[in-house]
Amino acid sequence: MKIPQKSVLKMDGYDIAAGQNIFNLLGAFAAEGKFSSVIILSDETVFKLYGAQIKNVLPDAKAIIIPPGEKQKNLNTLAKIWRKMFRYKADRHTLLVNLGGGVICDMGGFAASAYMRGIKFAQIPTTLLSQVDASAGGKTAVDLDGAKNIIGAFYNPSLVLIDVNVLKTLPPRELQSGFAEILKHGLIKDKKYFEEAAALSHAKMPPEKMIKLIQGSNKIKSRFVKLDREEKGPRKILNFGHTFGHAVETLSMKTKRPLLHGEAVALGMIAEAKLSVLEAGLSEEEFTKIKSAVKNHGLPLKYKQAKKSAVLNLITKDKKNKGQTIKWTLLNRIGKAIYDEECNPQNVSAALEEIL
Ligand SMILES: NC(=O)c1ccc[n+]([C@@H]2O[C@H](COP(=O)([O-])OP(=O)(O)OC[C@H]3O[C@@H](n4cnc5c(N)ncnc54)[C@H](O)[C@@H]3O)[C@@H](O)[C@H]2O)c1
Ligand SMILES: [Zn+2]
Repeated sequence: MKIPQKSVLKMDGYDIAAGQNIFNLLGAFAAEGKFSSVIILSDETVFKLYGAQIKNVLPDAKAIIIPPGEKQKNLNTLAKIWRKMFRYKADRHTLLVNLGGGVICDMGGFAASAYMRGIKFAQIPTTLLSQVDASAGGKTAVDLDGAKNIIGAFYNPSLVLIDVNVLKTLPPRELQSGFAEILKHGLIKDKKYFEEAAALSHAKMPPEKMIKLIQGSNKIKSRFVKLDREEKGPRKILNFGHTFGHAVETLSMKTKRPLLHGEAVALGMIAEAKLSVLEAGLSEEEFTKIKSAVKNHGLPLKYKQAKKSAVLNLITKDKKNKGQTIKWTLLNRIGKAIYDEECNPQNVSAALEEIL
């Protein structure tokens, strides 16, 4: 398949292509792969907006459409997807195309990983968050009783196709949510990237700049993924902000206005940056910079709805832990992270107070 090479990043054995008006590349990829059939998985909102464009390049594809939202990322929906694939006579040579945000990418990836012991899939991420983080890297999952990503697999896509034009219809709150993961990528690996991203304004960001930003994030992510595909070591660094983040996200799912994933990660990054001040030598000055960056992107600094005891209870169940010991990813400074850190419980509690 011919993809302009300047727009391609090599991930762990597959391409991530980013650009504008590049859905046609999916048609070329599907034709080249000689798949027995193609099934599109999408949510109602995204399919209404972009389903016709995808059907245009994949005219024979069948579609499975689910309601939007994190609440759908569960075993019930997954079973419905598998049943529908089976009814559509999907076989081992079927291609699954995930068209949507991180929910569709995560759940579709997992659906592909286990259907007939594994079929090929392509990711067409349509939120900023999924374009910079959730679509590539091979982590696929669904939630279990509201707990994040408990059932899943490491399973790589065959292609990730990122068209920034779809971001034009993305609600501002969803765009802000994506910036949380972008800031995270800078914080853990690249101070310059962090400072550039921290200063950006969302309004009228030219597509070329957006493409560069998305490629920058994927480049940072790919370095960790290539080092450690199954997260036994350094890949854990990509989880910065996600221990506290997943806990507040899980708690918020029971409320009328759940946090978006990026909002929860922003809160988690603030608390874990505070923990880094207490445990890993991050300076107060850099901590303040991190809070300003989060604020600049319209992301929350506080989540008063959560009870401290409930958050602390949830982090002990986090799948990143070993036994009862909580392992943290912390920052020595902006651009330098460490992982598998054990922390003093009093400091953990004090860090959490920063966001409550
Ligand atoms: N696998 C990974 O490595 C990884 C990394 C980060 C996050 N995640 C997961 O990603 C999920 C969050 O993803 P998300 O933030 O993309 O949420 P999402 O998939 O729920 O999408 C957010 C909302 O935006 C709508 N939408 C999507 N694209 C749109 C568009 N172009 N125009 C208008 N509306 C659009 C969707 O219908 C949905 O309502 C979480 O479950 C998180 O755990 C996974
Ligand atoms: Zn995340």
